[in-house]
Amino acid sequence: MSLEREDVLFLNASEVEAALSGQELELVRLVRRAYEQHVAGMSVVPHSTLLRFPGRGSDRIMALPAWLGGDSELAGIKWVSSVPSNPSRGLERASAVIVLNDIETGRARVLMEGSLVNARRTAASAVLAAQVLHDEKSPQRVALLGCGRIQLEILHFLRIVFPSLRRAAVLDIDRGAADRFARTVTELHDGLDLTIKDSLDELFASAPLISIATTAPAPYIGLDVLAAAPPGATLLHVSLRDLAPEVVLTAQNVVDDVAHVCRAETSLHLAEQQVGHRGFVHGALGDMTAAGRWERSDPGRAVVFSPFGLGILDLVVADLVCRRAQERGLGTPLRGFFPSPINLA
Ligand SMILES: NC(=O)c1ccc[n+]([C@@H]2O[C@H](COP(=O)([O-])OP(=O)(O)OC[C@H]3O[C@@H](n4cnc5c(N)ncnc54)[C@H](O)[C@@H]3O)[C@@H](O)[C@H]2O)c1
Repeated sequence: MSLEREDVLFLNASEVEAALSGQELELVRLVRRAYEQHVAGMSVVPHSTLLRFPGRGSDRIMALPAWLGGDSELAGIKWVSSVPSNPSRGLERASAVIVLNDIETGRARVLMEGSLVNARRTAASAVLAAQVLHDEKSPQRVALLGCGRIQLEILHFLRIVFPSLRRAAVLDIDRGAADRFARTVTELHDGLDLTIKDSLDELFASAPLISIATTAPAPYIGLDVLAAAPPGATLLHVSLRDLAPEVVLTAQNVVDDVAHVCRAETSLHLAEQQVGHRGFVHGALGDMTAAGRWERSDPGRAVVFSPFGLGILDLVVADLVCRRAQERGLGTPLRGFFPSPINLA
């Protein structure tokens, strides 16, 4: 398909899904490379901007602009909204639009539906962290706290990266969400035994690999719950606000970017406010993968991965979507999107 200077390529949700089909391991590789470029200073990732509306509770829309250097520079933005009441309207909580810009001209070149990119890049980063940080190289069990869209993607990626997984325990504050999750998982995942747990203690005791993806606005997991987990557990703290500061301060902490994650009332931000420094953060995942070196400070100590979610991940996944879409002729050119230049001569 040929695109003129005035055109923008548009990709809808099913085209993005088709382009990302079977690309899970490539996504993990791209996320790893993006993290390594980031720690090497080859990125620009301004702090995300949060738009809230008066009287609308935790509804928000967030802008994540980013630039990534390297062989093919990428620039763009994700504009992602979260409206917790959407499921009662039959809609997903989160929705997103991604724009990729042309590096030379600055003009938008691609516009795509972004919720799948958002979910997959998040799952890819969590699973990369599990590969690097978790002691068991062939885990058989996983505990999943929060039964929403992101957790479903994390489980999907975990099963690809760890074919050894045989058992999943789940818990959601909304029992209906846990039941729906269990039904979907049964349809999608052969050979996985899933149990719904009744308490945080039971869930944490069920596996040393624990993924947390809830919409909890403030911490509720204290040291008592952490004590129920097997020694040396790995916590993928994707939702960022579940762990009490004491848990963060007890654990060995790995992040995507310390300046990003220690803000916006995350558990790490609260821990920093409590102790007045960030010395409890061990380092960034990209440093560890780049150096090929990761060591637990103590085999019995929990490790917590807290990814704020960097816009560069959306860029690399959206760019993969574009490349795959172009190979397969997917997408619609928005003809004449830009005006013809005005000739002032
Ligand atoms: N760090 C990142 O890069 C990143 C990226 C995308 C999303 N997220 C976060 O991941 C989280 C999950 O997103 P989602 O799209 O799956 O949301 P979702 O609304 O689809 O699902 C969230 C689930 O968490 C459950 N929940 C809420 N509070 C709970 C609690 N205290 N205990 C147990 N379950 C609880 C809800 O009932 C719901 O089923 C959100 O907080 C989102 O902001 C993080």
